[in-house]
Amino acid sequence: AFINHGAFGAALRLAQQEAEAWRRRCEQQPLLFLDRDLFSQLARVMRELAAFVGCRAQDLALVPNATTGLLLVMRGRVGPGETLFSLDVGYGSVKKMLAVVAEQTGAQHVQHTVQLPLSSAEELVAQVAAAMPAGTKLAVFDAVTSNTAIRLPIQQLVQLCHSRGVEVLVDGAHALGMLPLDLHALAADYFVTNCHKWLCAPRGSAFLHVQPRHQAHVRPLIISHGKQSPSLARPSAQAVGFVSEFIWDGCRDYAPLLAVSTALRAWRQLGPEAVRSYQRQLLHQAVALLTQAWDTGTLVPLDMCGSMALVQLPDACLAAAQSAAEHISTAAAPGATSADGKWVQDSLHYQHHVECPIKCINGCLYARISGA
Ligand SMILES: Cc1ncc(COP(=O)(O)O)c(C=O)c1O
Repeated sequence: AFINHGAFGAALRLAQQEAEAWRRRCEQQPLLFLDRDLFSQLARVMRELAAFVGCRAQDLALVPNATTGLLLVMRGRVGPGETLFSLDVGYGSVKKMLAVVAEQTGAQHVQHTVQLPLSSAEELVAQVAAAMPAGTKLAVFDAVTSNTAIRLPIQQLVQLCHSRGVEVLVDGAHALGMLPLDLHALAADYFVTNCHKWLCAPRGSAFLHVQPRHQAHVRPLIISHGKQSPSLARPSAQAVGFVSEFIWDGCRDYAPLLAVSTALRAWRQLGPEAVRSYQRQLLHQAVALLTQAWDTGTLVPLDMCGSMALVQLPDACLAAAQSAAEHISTAAAPGATSADGKWVQDSLHYQHHVECPIKCINGCLYARISGA
């Protein structure tokens, strides 16, 4: 059984086929495809994406994954002495990125440890309001956290930050598909999301949305033909420059991005709300089944989750992990460690053929269930 859709998503078969068809078309006549057809096809995909998430196509940068978009914003926006604010419930690799960006730019990184468990979104907003230092330049919040599977109150957090003059970067790696999105209404300064998780497009497809006022500061990692020559860079050409710099950053495989179109069509045909409500129903059924069988509960109330939730494992799992001969606990305090979680996750995989992430939060073990 595979219950880990949240980790890397899964591409729809039709979207995989479309990606293959684009690769074949490229091989049939690479010049025709790459030099003549590609740009207009990508522009079409961007218009379709923009309509799906409620924004302007010219404010989108197509990127291979959420990680790329996050780095572009952080590197472009913070400088010496400025403050970057984030939460400890953020994604592991993004926490490493924040530390490196702070070190390389001379910025200060302040990470707030969220007090868990949370019983309401308001509690989290109040924690952020109290913890975010005055004069913060950029705050980074996940739309849906990975390890704890909490849907953060992004709209309220954006409003709070803007009331203090703080720019907001939303790490929406899990957001597209899982949550209804209206980027215009959200008004975050920067929003990154993967198309290859809950939208079910092929891997290697993501986008970064940047408000026009910030676009001059967010540049691609790679400079190639898409860069406009300074003589052409009239103010009216700025939007075209932003889009083209990201689209053409050297020759690569564009098939995953082009196949986003097929994933979007499937969502439109099924109805995004119908898909989400199916996912929620599945999730709620699984949570009810497990919490009854294990006599445990969820990390946060289900109305603070999207299509994933953490269900606490029974004590017997921790006991099994701690007594396993091959697992030597290094824990200084009683309670579970991430090594215990890894042991349970590996045992599920190798002994029971169940792929399900096991998380260790505040000394307790949880299974992260994905409704998909
Ligand atoms: C919250 C969050 N941010 C960022 C990422 C990184 O996504 P990617 O590896 O596709 O760039 C993930 C991946 O699971 C995630 O869950």
